[in-house]
Amino acid sequence: MKIEHFGNYDEMSVRAAEIVAREISAKSGKYVLGLPTGSTPLGMYAELARLAGANKLSFDSVTTFNLDEYYPITRDNPQSYYRFMHDNFFDKIKIDKKRINILNGEASDPQFECESYEQKINSVGGIDLMVLGLGANGHIGFNEPGEFLYPFTHVETLTANTREMNQRFFSSLFEVPTKAMTMGMASVLRAKKILLLVSGETKREAFRILTDRKITTASPASFLYTHTNVTILSDLD
Ligand code: GLP
Repeated sequence: MKIEHFGNYDEMSVRAAEIVAREISAKSGKYVLGLPTGSTPLGMYAELARLAGANKLSFDSVTTFNLDEYYPITRDNPQSYYRFMHDNFFDKIKIDKKRINILNGEASDPQFECESYEQKINSVGGIDLMVLGLGANGHIGFNEPGEFLYPFTHVETLTANTREMNQRFFSSLFEVPTKAMTMGMASVLRAKKILLLVSGETKREAFRILTDRKITTASPASFLYTHTNVTILSDLD
């Protein structure tokens, strides 16, 4: 596990975009990119869009898989991750919309949706680079701390902490969905490379627990220790 520290959020974001751009450009043929939502990756998305706009990066060969989505949620809900990704990234770059994969928050059978998503990731040969954010409670995607973790894409019941943390995006706590669909920890850990972004004071405790070098279901992020190619970028000292 390699950790790089940055003096501020912008420097961390530029470095994240640089790593993603370098990885995409280095591989000939198709490239499969796993993507997160949240406030943390916004700077990276802005920089990636800037690089693409300046013709320094092309997404022609890129297929994307988003990590998670609330359930149920309509695509046109401003808080859906579908909208988040289009508003903050996909609508700002040139990418074949057929290569964008996001769990469908409108699915009538969420279990089937999750299984199909997992199969689709496998059918394209797995994820080359999985970019992640860190939950204040140590969650990855929506894999919440608890007695056990689910390996594959599944429906998760959100913890009170996560709903409270994400309340800032909704008009009230009542509006925050109680469930979500998320890639599981094994789906994440099967990516060839992982890039974790950690930013802001609310993550300090989760980051400290992560750097304790212990693996525990109380901190899903700690399972990143079982992967051989993880880079963490942080603006925390
Ligand atoms: C959400 C997402 C996670 C994300 C986390 C942190 O709960 N499901 O994938 O990493 O929040 O978000 P933020 O970057 O806004 O702190």
